[in-house]
Amino acid sequence: MSTVPRIFNFSAGPAVLPLSVLEEAREHLVALPGVGMSILEISHRSKPYEEICFCAEANLRKLAGVPEGYHVLFLQGGATLQFAMLAMNLLPAGGTADYIETGVWSEKAISEAKKLGSVHVAGSSKATRHDRIPLQSEIRYSDAPAYVHMTSNNTIFGTQWHLLPEVPAGVPLVNDASSDILCRPVDVARFGLIYGGAQKNLSIAGLTLVVVRADLVGKAPASTPAYLSYATHAKERSLYNTPPVFAIYILHLVLKNLLAEGGLEVVEARNRRKAAKVYAAIDGSGGYFRGHAQPESRSWMNVTFRLPSEELEKKFVAEATAAGLDGLKGHRSVGGIRASIYNAFPEAGVDALVAFMADFAQRNG
Ligand SMILES: Cc1ncc(COP(=O)(O)O)c(C=O)c1O
Repeated sequence: MSTVPRIFNFSAGPAVLPLSVLEEAREHLVALPGVGMSILEISHRSKPYEEICFCAEANLRKLAGVPEGYHVLFLQGGATLQFAMLAMNLLPAGGTADYIETGVWSEKAISEAKKLGSVHVAGSSKATRHDRIPLQSEIRYSDAPAYVHMTSNNTIFGTQWHLLPEVPAGVPLVNDASSDILCRPVDVARFGLIYGGAQKNLSIAGLTLVVVRADLVGKAPASTPAYLSYATHAKERSLYNTPPVFAIYILHLVLKNLLAEGGLEVVEARNRRKAAKVYAAIDGSGGYFRGHAQPESRSWMNVTFRLPSEELEKKFVAEATAAGLDGLKGHRSVGGIRASIYNAFPEAGVDALVAFMADFAQRNG
């Protein structure tokens, strides 16, 4: 049991971790059972570390149903490095990559890819301030894209893809899943590559997960620095250089926890229930709270909404913080409120937010 009281943490990332994971990490921080040394002190070439790393990989494969023929890579540099690295590896000289622009992070992915080759924006929600996911009928691919890039959850605007885009036959679909990875079952075979920073749904900052189909590995030009080629990490099983060992250890504990809870169907049901409660509070407020995302594009992970005035929004955030509901201030590019309710965010915190919203609206209506 934690001795220090914990408040509800709505941070968009780094974000809340399961309490049992923090407690297990604390219990074993000074000495791993059977090892007698801390995970923070042992060599990444040691047997105990290898066991943790390979167990994390095996559990991820099991949980997400990663098919044969895909590599699971544990890298560094965040999703931000992947914006460039994936283009270095998958965008050949003279080729074009197609991007679906759904928010700030996909804009950043586009801007990095443009430094390395030609980019075609196949669909965009920019005209309506990224309040929705483009419809399939609005997406126009280029003639022969090297890949199609999407961002499954738009952390800042609070939109999420609930149906994957259809892509031309044989074209790999690449997904930045930083903020909704493992929030529900995933059909990995639909993707050529999935990547994400781990600090929201998987672990702590410092670890980036890449799941990549084997035939897409080894395509980087020979001049590519070793660390930036997927082939290097696939060959060395994420042990090319010193990996972020503590983040991989926390990932290992989180994955063990998700499996023990019953897997991603259970996680999906809980995430749907949590998100539905907050959206019901918005929809039932008689217009006092206004959701940013259009209903069919609503994110289960980041719920964004406005109040009648910026003054009331400031008051809402200040009073919520005082009531033990932390991190609700929206991103500066959207304003308003953002409640990030990732996998590990407790349902009791959602109930507390919903009660706070009703009380606040009544007092300040
Ligand atoms: C969808 C998405 N992509 C990319 C990033 C950037 O990730 P990182 O800080 O790991 O580079 C973020 C960070 O919040 C994000 O939410």
